[in-house]
Amino acid sequence: MDSRLVDHIERVRAACEERLSVAARVEKIHASACDLVASPVELPDVCRQPPSEGYGRHLLFRCRERGFAVLALVWPEGAATPAHDHGAWGIVAVSEGRVEVTEYLREDDGTCEGYARLIERGRRMFEPGDAAISYPPHDDVHRIANAAPGVTITIHTYAVDMKSCRIFDVDDHRSEIKHLRYDTEFVSA
Ligand SMILES: [Fe+2]
Repeated sequence: MDSRLVDHIERVRAACEERLSVAARVEKIHASACDLVASPVELPDVCRQPPSEGYGRHLLFRCRERGFAVLALVWPEGAATPAHDHGAWGIVAVSEGRVEVTEYLREDDGTCEGYARLIERGRRMFEPGDAAISYPPHDDVHRIANAAPGVTITIHTYAVDMKSCRIFDVDDHRSEIKHLRYDTEFVSA
């Protein structure tokens, strides 16, 4: 594994062990993620191969003690997620390429299962060296799209090893749980 990735994992672990507010912890991990992608991260070849459909998700590290997870995602040209939320903080750092992140505000109170009303709040472009933050409850719903004319590679640091997320159909005001899987899983500790 790239030694800078190991350093990032250790900084995340330290931030999770420190007595910090969640906001301060997320800020530290965001700074660490930006530092990590200041130049392209070295990854196993399988993490660099774009799939023919969707985008590739590769688990690089899962911390059993602290719960956080670090992933590499590989995005073919034009690939995008639906609008979705995680229910926990997440940081998306761009290693190569470029992503556009669309942020949404959820207007309904979430009590009607399967129904959701989202309003687009804005779109931001993230380049290599940048990292986006999602942070519930107010900054959680988002969509990520590869905005590069080619493959994009992103490194994601999540508070938890997510097995599912909630996806939204913005136009039809519907939501459902989507189960997530990894294409490959590397290190656990
Ligand atoms: Fe996300």
